[in-house]
Amino acid sequence: SARHTTRTLRAMKQKGEKIAMVTAYDANQARMAEDALMDVILVGDSVGMVMLGYETTIPVTLDEMIHHAKAVRRGAQNTMVLVDLPFATYHGDPQESLKNAMRVMQEAHVDGLKLEGGREILPHVEVLIRAGIPVCAHLGLTPQAVLNLGGYRVQGRDKKAAQRLLDDARALEAAGAFMVVLECVPNDVGALVTEQLVIPTIGIGAGAACSGQVLVYHDLLGMHGQDTAKFVKSYAALHEVVHSALVAYRDEVKLGAFPSAQYTYEIHVDELDQLYG
Ligand code: KIV
Ligand code: NA
Repeated sequence: SARHTTRTLRAMKQKGEKIAMVTAYDANQARMAEDALMDVILVGDSVGMVMLGYETTIPVTLDEMIHHAKAVRRGAQNTMVLVDLPFATYHGDPQESLKNAMRVMQEAHVDGLKLEGGREILPHVEVLIRAGIPVCAHLGLTPQAVLNLGGYRVQGRDKKAAQRLLDDARALEAAGAFMVVLECVPNDVGALVTEQLVIPTIGIGAGAACSGQVLVYHDLLGMHGQDTAKFVKSYAALHEVVHSALVAYRDEVKLGAFPSAQYTYEIHVDELDQLYG
């Protein structure tokens, strides 16, 4: 099947068809997402937290994003793949932002980029779009700004903050952004922004009125074995499954029970003769 484009995603919103998006960070995860007919795969900078063991997304580098984006592209040739520009790679000279963005596009062959922030990043968004790069915006809880936000907290809770978020969304749409991710905002704010924009909104903790939803791969599969955010629904408990399998394997190795005959190669006597000369 053909990959989605910015146009087909917009058409989905117009037709009221929900957009299903999930993160992936390697070829296997990407193939699994594609086999499940996901509309969009995001190579999120959440890779830093769920794959690389960082506390936040702040240490993630452009090279790390490209490394994972290339793997995802190889695993999902027929699905739209978006990539996060990581911390501080689109905040200086807009020409420098363009250089960073072009590296991801040209080295990983992906379909677009996601940038966190509102009107303050408009000069960077504009230069990318002028160069032909589809840009997805990301508003509300923007994890790269966690130090300024004072933690992972719900955003846009009062009227002023909600208005600011809506104005940001409108400005990004006017600049040519093709989609906007809304993270951790009240249901009403997700609904308001979705209604006021032509481009689709993708919610993560932003309510059911958004044009689509995104979840982090490891969150939706229950791979952590610890508490996650309120907005996370775990559709599996893979942490327990993987733990039991690893323990069972270790036990069988210690007992000499693995490998049993079933997992062992037999050799013919004449081959044995050859082997020993
Ligand atoms: O990095 C990420 O996984 C994201 C999604 C949660 C939207 O930005
Ligand atoms: Na991200």
